[in-house]
Amino acid sequence: MKFLGLCGSLRSGSLNAAVLRTAAELTLPPRELDLDPGLGRLPYFNADVEETALPEVVAELRATVGAADGLLIVTPEYAHGTSGVLKNALEWLVGGGEIGGKPVALASASPTVTGGDRARAWLAETLAVMGAQVIPQDLRIPQALVKIADGRVTDEPTRAALAALLDDLAQAADRAREADGTFAS
Ligand SMILES: Cc1cc2nc3c(=O)[nH]c(=O)nc-3n(C[C@H](O)[C@H](O)[C@H](O)COP(=O)(O)O)c2cc1C
Repeated sequence: MKFLGLCGSLRSGSLNAAVLRTAAELTLPPRELDLDPGLGRLPYFNADVEETALPEVVAELRATVGAADGLLIVTPEYAHGTSGVLKNALEWLVGGGEIGGKPVALASASPTVTGGDRARAWLAETLAVMGAQVIPQDLRIPQALVKIADGRVTDEPTRAALAALLDDLAQAADRAREADGTFAS
């Protein structure tokens, strides 16, 4: 079972990228979590370009998302919403339709006490409109500066919550495959 992680922050010291990195390490065979394909490489969404000359990097993103059994999306909170980087990627994915029916788990890390709640809520609404199957479980990591160090989640309860979220995502992906008739175990 193959999952894809998307990160809405391009910052080298990103707390959210650290969450994704930790999630990849917590994902053990037969599961796999591929890390962010690099959303910063995408041009700004432009419907004219989409119709006339789809950039290769967008085609690659669509194929990668389409091939994943589920997505783990980690988002920073900027001005009470998600990041422009992530929103831009989702705009490119609207037309491709790869998000439709895809199980998606959301997580957010923030130095503040709210833990990115508003960014996740914002993202959940956008993803629902796109037809994603956003799982009801999610992960908020408030006061993340004391829970993340050296690019990894170090706080044990947070690591356990992240592992539980990955299990929930895998179960949702199992159910989606069963419903699709492509999984028999
Ligand atoms: C432009 C900007 C706006 C921000 N707005 C919010 C906000 O609305 N709520 C919040 O909790 N944190 C906010 N923050 C703090 C970010 O959550 C914090 O910088 C976080 O570490 C960003 O995620 P990253 O570490 O993955 O890059 C903001 C930061 C910046 C730079």
